[in-house]
Formats: sequence, C-alpha cells, structure tokens
Amino acid sequence: MPTFFSSTSDIPQVEAVPRHIAIIMDGNGRWAKQRMLPRAAGHKRGVEIVREVVKACAARGVGFLTLFAFSSENWRRPAEEVSMLKQLFILALEREAERLHRNGIRLRVVGDIAPFGQKIVELVARAEKLTQENKGMTLTIAANYGGRWDLLQAMQRLVESNPQQRGAFTEEQLASCLAMAYAPEPDLFIRTGGEQRISNFLLWQLAYSEFYFTDTLWPDFDAAALDRAIVSYQQRERRFGRTSEQVEQTSKKPPAKEELA
Ligand code: IPE
Ligand code: IPE
Ligand code: MG
Repeated sequence: MPTFFSSTSDIPQVEAVPRHIAIIMDGNGRWAKQRMLPRAAGHKRGVEIVREVVKACAARGVGFLTLFAFSSENWRRPAEEVSMLKQLFILALEREAERLHRNGIRLRVVGDIAPFGQKIVELVARAEKLTQENKGMTLTIAANYGGRWDLLQAMQRLVESNPQQRGAFTEEQLASCLAMAYAPEPDLFIRTGGEQRISNFLLWQLAYSEFYFTDTLWPDFDAAALDRAIVSYQQRERRFGRTSEQVEQTSKKPPAKEELA
C-alpha cells in the first residue's frame, strides 16, 4: 500500500488539480421540494449527477474522488426514505459497476455497511473485487460512514494489533488504520446545498483540506460547477502552518544543474 504524506507530519506537494476531492452531496430533498416532487426524485437525480461528476473528475486527472452518500446519522430519517436510499444504492451498484470497470475506475466503499443487509454487502464486495486492479481514478462511496465511527474503529484496530505497545502511538499508525488509509488526505472539500458544516465526514483527514461551500443543490451540480470549485482551490495559498514568505520560497523552482556551483 502506498504511503502518503501526512499534512501534519510533512508538507504535501501542492498540484494545480486536486489529487483528492471529497464531496458532501447535499440538497437533494430541497431540490425536489422546489419542484413539488417527492424527496425520492431528488435522490434519483442525485445519482445521475454522481455519474457526471465522476466522469468530469476522471477527465481532469483527479486521482481520488470521495462522495458522502449516507452518514451514520442518516438512519434518523423516516424509515421510508432510508429504505428508498438503500434501493437506489442497490440499483447504482448493479448498473454502474461494469461501467466504472470499463473506464478503469477503482471503486471502494467505506463505512459500516453490514446494517444495510446482505444484498448490499455482496454487491459491494463484487464491485470492489471487479475493479480492484484498475489504475484510473479511485472512487470512494462513504455509506453509513461517520468520522467518529472511523476514528473509533481505527483506534480499536490499532490497539488490538499492537497489544504490547502501551500509549506512544504515532499519527502514522492511527492514519494507517482509518477506513481510507489507501488515499491521500483530501486537497479539496466541497459541500453543496448551502450548509457550512462537516456533518461528521472525514474528521481526521480534513485537517488541512481547502473548503468550498456552494449554495448549488447537488442535483443542480455539474462539470461547470466542479470547475468553479477547482478554480477557487487554485487561488488558495496552502500554508500548512508556514508563513506566506516561506511558501513563496519553497514554490520557487530549484536551480537547474548548470546553474549550481
Ligand atoms: C443529501 O441530500 C443526500 C443524503 C443525505 C442522502 P438531502 O436528502 O440531505 O437533501 P436536503 O438537505 O434535505 O435538501
Ligand atoms: C450529510 O448531509 C450527509 C450526506 C450528504 C450523506 P445531511 O443532509 O445528512 O447533513 P445535515 O443533517 O444537514 O448536517
Ligand atoms: Mg441534507
């Protein structure tokens, strides 16, 4: 497994195109309400937007795209809506796995998916296996995921696999037990739908991510909206604790060989 820079232990390389984009896809319900449609219509349209955004991210060379599909708190919704979301997840897994595979995309699902039932567990395992060798973008769907759940399961795994090591655990050890240890930390975090909160998404990994909030509801999001987020990202100065002057110094190109000596 590749080891990635930790934004707190090292200073990551900043690229023009975010290597990892994490999105909270919010606003499906309000989109439907505006049109006097049932919430389900918003969720259905939301799945179509996922397809468009996956395609756009892959075309722009984004290495990792992570989408928050269902939070550990979304069980609090009416049973009917939860069951509808499960059905949509099943349909998407059945219909999209092959397409992702054809496009060289690797699919991963993070979160405690057992409570969704055997069918989803099996479809996820099958889709992950089908796409595991793909070398294109890694698409992660966070389902029944919560940042606190992730930190807790990581700590449990850490302690269980190192029973002799009392205390003195390192950041790297904990990070390697998180559900998304296979991905670098998100460079860009996007939340659609107007709310400005994390809602228990990737609590550890968002430490130094750039945040982008838009009022656009998820079903209205598209490739152009994605590009606006990326342009905003490109205008940020990522300091990782340093001063602006230090950032300018290090971003200057190192002298070519013949200029040395
Ligand atoms: C996001 O849209 C999708 C999920 C949380 C599954 P919402 O369903 O939260 O839409 P709003 O926030 O009610 O508009
Ligand atoms: C966050 O959206 C979770 C997902 C998009 C899956 P919510 O709509 O559930 O967030 P809150 O409840 O408004 O914070
Ligand atoms: Mg919402």
